[in-house]
Amino acid sequence: MKKTRIVVIGVGAVGSTTAYTLLLRERADELVLIDANKEKAAGDALDMNHGLPFLGRTKVWAGTYEDCRDADIVVVTAGAAQKPGESRIDLLKRNVGIFDSIIGEVTKYNSNGILLIATNPVDVMSYFSWKKSNWPASRVIGSGTVLDSARFRYLIGEQLGIDARSVHAQIVGEHGDSELPLWSLANVAGTELNFDEEEKASIFTNTRDAAYQIIEAKGATYYAIGLALDRICTAILKDEGAVLNVSTLLEGQQGLSDVYLGVPCIVDRQGVRRTMDIELSDKELEQLRQSSAKLKGLIASLEL
Ligand code: 2OP
Repeated sequence: MKKTRIVVIGVGAVGSTTAYTLLLRERADELVLIDANKEKAAGDALDMNHGLPFLGRTKVWAGTYEDCRDADIVVVTAGAAQKPGESRIDLLKRNVGIFDSIIGEVTKYNSNGILLIATNPVDVMSYFSWKKSNWPASRVIGSGTVLDSARFRYLIGEQLGIDARSVHAQIVGEHGDSELPLWSLANVAGTELNFDEEEKASIFTNTRDAAYQIIEAKGATYYAIGLALDRICTAILKDEGAVLNVSTLLEGQQGLSDVYLGVPCIVDRQGVRRTMDIELSDKELEQLRQSSAKLKGLIASLEL
């Protein structure tokens, strides 16, 4: 039987935490770490290999782009990360430069895997990767607002005293400052949430600004994004058909097209099977359009 292989490109804080999460959950038979800093990748691989006697039989090694050949999923986390006070958008120019060669290298060796992009600004980087790879959009996926939706569900759950896993609520749009909460669809067991406007504003602000808070406190965010990426990999490898708010190409949904942003998508072995049809309130639709317009402006600034 063919072994499942996940390649993680970029082993900074996000990449190494993601690889470690994938390892702990025995997500793939083979885990390959690639980084411009070969020593760091080799050190991470060695460190993880020393944990194998406590785990399963995952094979971990520091590889080269040639190892992308047999990859089921290539997770890209490489690039500059936000410093305190920087927005995700501030990273765009630096990270597009880095991606130009990374995506070229991956697609030289692999043509039928799934690209899972986590580098920020993730929606624009995903669009760039889709264009640059020439792969179908279904197989080029951004982590989108999966993490934001998790933060949102956690905060709602805390407020209600209910397990976050029982909270159905989502963030859509840019993974960043123009994202929006879909309060009109949020529920617990089909029951609408009875928050007043002040409570809603506070929950959403804490969701949207969570990364700034964490970066200020400890320099980077990595545990929750590692779990979010593991969740997306699971949906793909187990052919789950899970609904996750990944970043995907819109082709007319909500009147929007030629842009990548986070919306609820059915994720399975093919990648994004399709987006869910959701009905938004007028205000939500307007906000989503604004978020899309912002991302389209950034896409227009790229040389594609
Ligand atoms: C996050 O939201 C910084 O995009 C990263 O944690």
